[in-house]
Amino acid sequence: MTLIDKLDAVLVRAQSEYSVANDQESVEAVRVSLVGRQGELPALMKEMGSVAKEDKPLVGRKLNEVKKGIESLLAAASKKVEVAKKQGAAIDVTLPGRKRKLGVKHPITAVIDDIVRIFRRLGFVVADGPDLEDEFHNFDALNTPKDHPSRDVRDTFYLPDGRLLRTQTSPVQIRTMENQKPPVRIIAPGRCFRRDTPDATHSMNFHQIEGLYIDKKVSLADLKSVLLEFAHEMFGKDVGIRFRPHFFPFTEPSIEYDFTCVMCKGKGCSVCKGSGWLEISGAGIVDPQVLENVGLDPEEYSGYAFGMGIERIAMLRHKIGDIRYLYENNVKFLEQF
Ligand code: DAH
Repeated sequence: MTLIDKLDAVLVRAQSEYSVANDQESVEAVRVSLVGRQGELPALMKEMGSVAKEDKPLVGRKLNEVKKGIESLLAAASKKVEVAKKQGAAIDVTLPGRKRKLGVKHPITAVIDDIVRIFRRLGFVVADGPDLEDEFHNFDALNTPKDHPSRDVRDTFYLPDGRLLRTQTSPVQIRTMENQKPPVRIIAPGRCFRRDTPDATHSMNFHQIEGLYIDKKVSLADLKSVLLEFAHEMFGKDVGIRFRPHFFPFTEPSIEYDFTCVMCKGKGCSVCKGSGWLEISGAGIVDPQVLENVGLDPEEYSGYAFGMGIERIAMLRHKIGDIRYLYENNVKFLEQF
């Protein structure tokens, strides 16, 4: 084996040994064995003396080449060890994992989702309407007299162009019937706006769900059975329902409906003011005039409609005493649900 061959072999060994040297100590050990005082390269350098004169430049160049090669392999291996050490320090596998906080549904959203789920099972589909309405859909078509107090500018937010922020979800009844032939069976959750002074039970911006069923020969008994089924699903089988006569421009007859007080189960408490019943909202048989307003023949079709206040249901469900908690987005409050 010539000296040149031996030098080449040292470089090959340097490559393979540095490539598996994974810590400071082994990098150093490889260095000592190659270029240390007792190392292979210094030993080979001693052999230079016996090289023929004419071969010296060639072997000398080879020697330099191998020396440089070993130097750069050493630098690369040291760098590799250093980087690995830094990364190792950044990942401490003994630390506990980071907890990711999961968000929760806002109680209003959760109530809407639950109500929608219950009515969907009863055959209703979700309908939608704009928050920004016109007087026709919010009032006229719903048979609301021109001088009805709810139209007053002190109750309703009007825009300069005469449109308004809907005061109820009932206009979705009209929009649906305008676009769809009976049978119609919809629920419509959404925002409503009224010029109320905010207090524990009032907000200028609140949520309702509207229900509407139009078909042939629909009766008040159908309405009662559907609301009773809803009450059972939402609050439990021991919750009953009661109708009280009332008036709404768009229903005839109109009723207000109550559920057994979910706090005291009907015994009488401060929430139900001793009556055992909780007022939920209004409902009734769709007024024939409303059907005519959307081009349906009241002789052929009939239906029921009902409203529901989402905040009221959420407050009853979670025993929340003040509606304003629902809008403040205080995380400490929201985290409880
Ligand atoms: N829109 C009424 C309100 O905001 C609630 C209501 C009453 C809706 C009777 C109805 C209904 O669909 O039939 O007070």
